[in-house]
Amino acid sequence: MLDKITVVGAGNVGATAAQRLAEKELARTIVLVDVIEGVPQGKALDQGQSAPIEGFDTRVVGANDYTPAAESELVVVTAGIARKPGMSRDDLVRTNADIVKQVSQQIKQHCPHAIVVVVSNPLDVMCWVTKQVTGFPRERVIGMAGVLDTARYRAFLAEALDVSVEDIQAMVLGGHGDTMVPLVSYTTVSGIPVSQLLDRATLDKIVERTRNGGAEIVGYLKTGSAYYAPSAAVVQMVEAIVGDKKRILPCAVWLQGEYGLSGMYCGVPAKLGRKGLEQVLEVELTPQERAALQKSAEAVKQTMAAVKL
Ligand code: NAI
Ligand code: 2OP
Repeated sequence: MLDKITVVGAGNVGATAAQRLAEKELARTIVLVDVIEGVPQGKALDQGQSAPIEGFDTRVVGANDYTPAAESELVVVTAGIARKPGMSRDDLVRTNADIVKQVSQQIKQHCPHAIVVVVSNPLDVMCWVTKQVTGFPRERVIGMAGVLDTARYRAFLAEALDVSVEDIQAMVLGGHGDTMVPLVSYTTVSGIPVSQLLDRATLDKIVERTRNGGAEIVGYLKTGSAYYAPSAAVVQMVEAIVGDKKRILPCAVWLQGEYGLSGMYCGVPAKLGRKGLEQVLEVELTPQERAALQKSAEAVKQTMAAVKL
């Protein structure tokens, strides 16, 4: 258990993540920070009142400034605006870059030793903004997207095969956008290659649905984007870090030559432990997967070019 985790942004993803973190007692105190007066305070109070029912002793504190967040060991950044129908994640880039810059300056000042898990979109670019503004090493600025994209892929596969989601092992790499790369060659069902259980056309449809997984939900919600699975994905990463689990999860990390990519964030298999990012795993890819990863990285680079730091 950590002493303090701060979640910046008390909207759908941030507030749901805070509740899940508190229920799992991953820190003694969870601080919820947002710019809207009263919202983090009200949500924190409400969550704290669920504690006697759910049986957790974590304190939840809401604030509009970073004083209560001081010296947090881990910070989750969900501040920003979410997608509306017809908007791509990249449409959010300029607005969210300004918000994430401001948040990162506060993290640097108040939580200089924290590990930061970034969620705000466009994810890979917001990770870069956070790393640049905080000046933190790559071990301490990690992005959440691959765990969510992989969960969607696993859920669709489990449904098609009529098997438990727990028996689907898979990874989705690349940028968090329409060019993401579900690794079919590494997808297994209790160790059985998925290509032995589903035909190519069905797999292609599932890959396509995964790539559009976020947009599918925005299409239904209309006024916002997904938050139950995204907050669960954040908590899985935080749990791996807090518990020093050395889990191998697909995360957005700052690349320094791995997969032939550098100077950018992109989703790759990563080992998470108490130090944050502890290793980037370079696995063999098929020529098609390698080309798809390159294409996805190009898309991230194009969005980076729209941001002035
Ligand atoms: P939301 O609109 O419900 O919440 C965002 C919150 O950020 C709002 O309460 C807003 O007041 C707050 N905020 C804005 N500026 C702030 C600042 N300077 N400091 C502190 N708080 C600030 O949005 P939601 O659904 O929670 O999504 C949050 C972000 O996460 C969006 O950018 C969304 O696109 C992204 N997202 C990323 C996912 C991923 O896989 N990486 C998955 C789901 C959402
Ligand atoms: C999602 O994938 C919007 O990035 C968010 O649901």
